[in-house]
Amino acid sequence: MGVIGYGYWGPNIVRNFSSVDGIQVVAVSDRSPDMLKKAKKAYPALEVSTDPNSILDSGTIDAVAVITPVFTHFDLAKKALENGKHVFVEKPFTLTVGQAEELVDLADKKHLKIMVDHTFLFTGAVKKIKELMDAGALGKLYYYDSMRVNLGLFQHDINVVWDLAPHDLSVMDYLIKEKPVAISATGEVHYNGFEDIAYVTVYCEKNVIAHFNVNWLSPVKVRTTLLGGDKKMLLWNDLEADEKVKIYDKGVEVKSRENVYDLLVSYRSGDAWIPRVDQIEALKLEANYFVDCVTNDKTPINDGHAGLRIVRMLEAASESIKGKGKLVEFQGN
Ligand SMILES: NC(=O)c1ccc[n+]([C@@H]2O[C@H](COP(=O)([O-])OP(=O)(O)OC[C@H]3O[C@@H](n4cnc5c(N)ncnc54)[C@H](O)[C@@H]3O)[C@@H](O)[C@H]2O)c1
Repeated sequence: MGVIGYGYWGPNIVRNFSSVDGIQVVAVSDRSPDMLKKAKKAYPALEVSTDPNSILDSGTIDAVAVITPVFTHFDLAKKALENGKHVFVEKPFTLTVGQAEELVDLADKKHLKIMVDHTFLFTGAVKKIKELMDAGALGKLYYYDSMRVNLGLFQHDINVVWDLAPHDLSVMDYLIKEKPVAISATGEVHYNGFEDIAYVTVYCEKNVIAHFNVNWLSPVKVRTTLLGGDKKMLLWNDLEADEKVKIYDKGVEVKSRENVYDLLVSYRSGDAWIPRVDQIEALKLEANYFVDCVTNDKTPINDGHAGLRIVRMLEAASESIKGKGKLVEFQGN
């Protein structure tokens, strides 16, 4: 594997891919010679270059990891695929739906894998929630509600929705069966020309509603997600060290519906329980999974189609923000 981009996130990719069997990171490229110095110091055997073509045109590299800012993803991933290499690409997959579709088609034609780094799908918490939801533990789902706020890190090329929401949108996409059908989003710009606070509402089939609060201007860091169903409700607090996921036997029961004045609502407040959640580093599991998908010809859960679904929601959110919350319906899936 060759890794392009050794800024903030790239070193985590190199470290994790270097630790799994079946793959060897042999080269790193970054535009910045300073970043390459760091890479060389940490991994003296690596070949380093400021020119990404040293990786993209290599005759011996089979897979390329694209760990650069989003506006570069399309060109780098396209060239890698054209040159017959599997691609591991950062979130968000691309800047536009059209670019994502082109990459997906190209990978299909060339029988190559695309894996989009939707890291949270590989966390112990999300794996556990998926297991619970697939077993029907929450019952009929009503809502998905997440808050991902902190102070900074301001990005220079994208707004807070494109920076932070891919995490939550990809988790929602993975966990819930009901397909998103429309988006309404609002946000405001205060500093560098990009929205630094935004509220995104996603309407799904079967009256499931999802809401995402993303903010670079929060005095405190919050990472909570609530999932409410008719049987149980779930809280995922990613900042909790040990008790990340809690399931509450709480809910509402309506006894009579004959006319609105007879509506008898009773509230159920039963036990809460805390399932055990694996603590293995998500990126390590994801790196192993990449090798498994490539060598055993499996379709990744976070393939190009998954990346495309997230970009479609991001693009719709941007359009909606421009229209101050205008409802944007989806075409396709
Ligand atoms: N999955 C996650 O949890 C997670 C976390 C952080 C960042 N990311 C993603 O990783 C990507 C990179 O983010 P970052 O925070 O590391 O950014 P960064 O700016 O810190 O690093 C990007 C690096 O890429 C290099 N670069 C840019 N264009 C290049 C090119 N054409 N060829 C070679 N090198 C090039 C830059 O010199 C820089 O060192 C983004 O898409 C971001 O969304 C994902």
